[in-house]
Amino acid sequence: MSTSEHPPTVLLGITGCIAAYKACELVRLLKKAGQRVKVVMTPAACEFVTPTTLRTLSEEPVALDPVDDPAAPIHHISLAQEADVLVIAPATANTLNKLAAGVADNLLTTTALACAAPLIVAPAMNTHMWRDEATQTALAVLRQRGAVLIEPETGELACGDVGEGRLAAVEQIAEAVLAELRRSRDLVGRRILVTAGPTREYIDPVRFISNPSSGITGFAVAEEAARRGAEVILVSGPVTLPDPFGCTVIRVESAEQMLAAAELHFHGLDAAVFTAAVADFRPAERATQKLKKTAGTPVLELVRNPDILTTLAGRPAGTSGANGAGAADAADAAGASGATSATSASAVGQRPYIVGFAAETEDVELHAREKLAAKGAHLIVANDVSAPGLGFASNQNSWLFVSAEASEPTGVQPKRTLANLLLDRIVQSLC
Ligand code: PMT
Repeated sequence: MSTSEHPPTVLLGITGCIAAYKACELVRLLKKAGQRVKVVMTPAACEFVTPTTLRTLSEEPVALDPVDDPAAPIHHISLAQEADVLVIAPATANTLNKLAAGVADNLLTTTALACAAPLIVAPAMNTHMWRDEATQTALAVLRQRGAVLIEPETGELACGDVGEGRLAAVEQIAEAVLAELRRSRDLVGRRILVTAGPTREYIDPVRFISNPSSGITGFAVAEEAARRGAEVILVSGPVTLPDPFGCTVIRVESAEQMLAAAELHFHGLDAAVFTAAVADFRPAERATQKLKKTAGTPVLELVRNPDILTTLAGRPAGTSGANGAGAADAADAAGASGATSATSASAVGQRPYIVGFAAETEDVELHAREKLAAKGAHLIVANDVSAPGLGFASNQNSWLFVSAEASEPTGVQPKRTLANLLLDRIVQSLC
């Protein structure tokens, strides 16, 4: 715990893994950021990096098995109580499985069991160990209990395999720790709707129109909002991500289903964040049986999908019917018409704060500003989805916040950090 004598305490658990040496750099970064770092090492971790190194870097005694301080017989309790955040980096499959099962057989796992502070785990292991059902089940259990998972990276591993399992960048882990320490409960009492992922528009039972959205962005926004105290309803298209902590999750497939689910929950909201990459078109008809090649090349007739954001943002539907597709047309044409935003305070009334996203491949700011005006959003988060390594399905992105007043770039950041920047803006606007 932070006291007048020292800043918040980061309790860093190190487990036995070749990436243990990277924990030294993590200590250095956290110290540089002004944190007090106390290290607890498993016996196996000491095979990879010495306690002396960690003691020197952290400027604190290192906690080891067996209890190294005879004056503190209940060492795991005092360590647990001191922690403002417990981060385990690297976290082996063995330790993750123990944490999930509540096994307490060394000083680190015993401390973790006794620790009420937020838990962050940064796994590192061989790809097959990472993919193993036992590991994934343990991670799901830990996430469900509120642990923050820093996903490992994909690349060449110490064992020579190539795949997922490499410890995330220490800068990313340090940032997650600092974010956890900074985290305020500034969204308590707020209700937020988030849409995420792609939609699937089926041609026949096995073929569909879709896009590469992974849901990472929407899930990060939803989970971070929940951790800041909001009641969150997440409506997601088909993605492989597990339910984020603390959210009500509604899984849908098509744009029409996404609209129906979002509409159902569009009450009492303080904010709505539309990160989903919704298909603008769907086949006019869905074949009931798989289309046969022998029947010749089919010609697909497409029809417009409802524009969920435009419909729910409460803009006049213009020439459209109730589903808002006409208003979406207006959005597409807005650049030419130079339409102005209807998001002044008086026009906003009691509407929730509306955040739309804009996936662009050129003239990002221009198109985002058109969407701000035409879709009835208070804020558009624009991103260049043609930029290599950013946008769809990556863990980082670069956003441009476009409001009636300004355009502000974020630079390249992890999506979780970006989610919190967006939530900071939402909090500000709600105040
Ligand atoms: O999921 P990830 O892999 O993390 O990828 C993130 C992302 C690239 C999907 C995200 O950053 C993003 O850009 N989301 C918006 C994608 C999109 O559909 O952009 P758009 O410019 O076509 O749509 C503009 C806005 O209207 C969006 O808020 C969209 O949710 C909404 N929309 C669009 C069409 C439609 N029929 N209904 C909608 O609500």
